[in-house]
Amino acid sequence: MDVFEAIRRRRSVRAYTGEPIPGEALDRVLAAGLLAPSSKNIRPLEFVCVRDAATLAQLAESKATGAAHVSGAAVAIAVIAQDGAADAWTEDASVALAFMMLEAEECGLGSCWVQIRLRADADGNDAQENVRRILGIPSAYHVEGMLALGVPAKEFPPRDWDRTQRDRIHAERF
Ligand SMILES: Cc1cc2nc3c(=O)[nH]c(=O)nc-3n(C[C@H](O)[C@H](O)[C@H](O)COP(=O)(O)O)c2cc1C
Repeated sequence: MDVFEAIRRRRSVRAYTGEPIPGEALDRVLAAGLLAPSSKNIRPLEFVCVRDAATLAQLAESKATGAAHVSGAAVAIAVIAQDGAADAWTEDASVALAFMMLEAEECGLGSCWVQIRLRADADGNDAQENVRRILGIPSAYHVEGMLALGVPAKEFPPRDWDRTQRDRIHAERF
C-alpha cells in the first residue's frame, strides 16, 4: 500500500484518449466514493455515473468555464445529496471526490474535479439546475460537483510540493 505515491502523482487530467474505462476500475473508483468518511456516518451522498457521450457533451455546457473536458471524458460521476440529509454534506462530497481521484490515480486513470455548486453557465443560469435537468435529478438534491474520468492522453509530472509549499505549514503557532 503506497497511498502517498498516489497523492504525489495525482494531477488534474482534462485530456483523454477516448478509450473506455475498464469496468473493474470504475467500480473501484465508485467504491472509494462510497467508502469515504462521512460526518456522523450519515452517508448522504449519491453518485450518478454517466457514460453516454451525448449526455457528457451536455454536462460540458452546464457551467460557463471549467467543464469543457467532460465532453471528452469516458465517464462523469456527479456527486449529489438530498437537501436536509446532512449538515456537512459539502464536506462529505469533497472527501468522496478526493478519495475517488486517488483511486482513479491508482487505477491509472486521469480524473478532474468539476465544481458545480456555486457556479453558473454562460447565461448566468445556476449550474446545479442545469445538471439536475440533464440527469433527471429531483430538485430536492444538491449537486456538489462531478468527477470527469478517462484514460489520460498526456502525462503530467508530480508537483514539487517540498520546494514550493512548505511555507504553508506553521509549526506550533501561526
Ligand atoms: C474544489 C475544487 C474545484 C475544482 N473545480 C474545477 C473545475 O470546475 N474545472 C477544472 O477543470 N478543474 C477544477 N479543479 C481542479 C483544479 O483546477 C486543480 O486541482 C488545480 O489547478 C491544481 O492542479 P492539480 O490538481 O493538477 O494539482 C477543482 C479542484 C478543486 C479541489
